[in-house]
Amino acid sequence: MSEKGNVGKLDFPFGVDFDLVHGIMKDPQNHVVRLASSMRGHYKDAKALEALVALGDPVHYEVFEYRIPEQPGQLQFCISKTYPGTVGGECFMTKGHYHKVPDTAEIYLCLRGEGWMLMKRSDGSAARERFLPGRMVYVPPLWGHRTVNSGDEPLISFCVYPGEAGHNYGDIEKEGFPERVFKRSGKVEFVPSSKAG
Ligand SMILES: [Fe+2]
Repeated sequence: MSEKGNVGKLDFPFGVDFDLVHGIMKDPQNHVVRLASSMRGHYKDAKALEALVALGDPVHYEVFEYRIPEQPGQLQFCISKTYPGTVGGECFMTKGHYHKVPDTAEIYLCLRGEGWMLMKRSDGSAARERFLPGRMVYVPPLWGHRTVNSGDEPLISFCVYPGEAGHNYGDIEKEGFPERVFKRSGKVEFVPSSKAG
């Protein structure tokens, strides 16, 4: 039986190949692509986003994953790839999410690129951690998280989280994050969302 044939059962060990130079998972079973047009409502400058959509609707980020059962005891894993660019000066980012099962953690090991993980809790507390190649970010249970690319090349991380965690995007779409990340003339700025809008 091929390695891939074993994966469906998940009661048998299997292996997955990665290209660590390019940050690619070989033969993923699921590939999520988020275009600029799927990021409406997330950036401060909605007009700048629409201009970007009209210019060809570029990819903002991609996720490469395997289909692992959403069950306790299993581990989900993926490659997250966020492209470089800005929308009205605001760095390209992921939508961000809490986990559907909120008290589940996640680790992101940065393979390439640079940027920040923005994190927040529903009680209003906020944090950010640097993404650099070889640096791992630990997202504790209950913390929403969003990847921001502040560099000039794709920001790529390998992620692992509990099998049952799932994703909850709704709260983030309504509330955003406490700060926004801008890059102007090569300088990165963190602006409280209350001021940035
Ligand atoms: Fe997550």
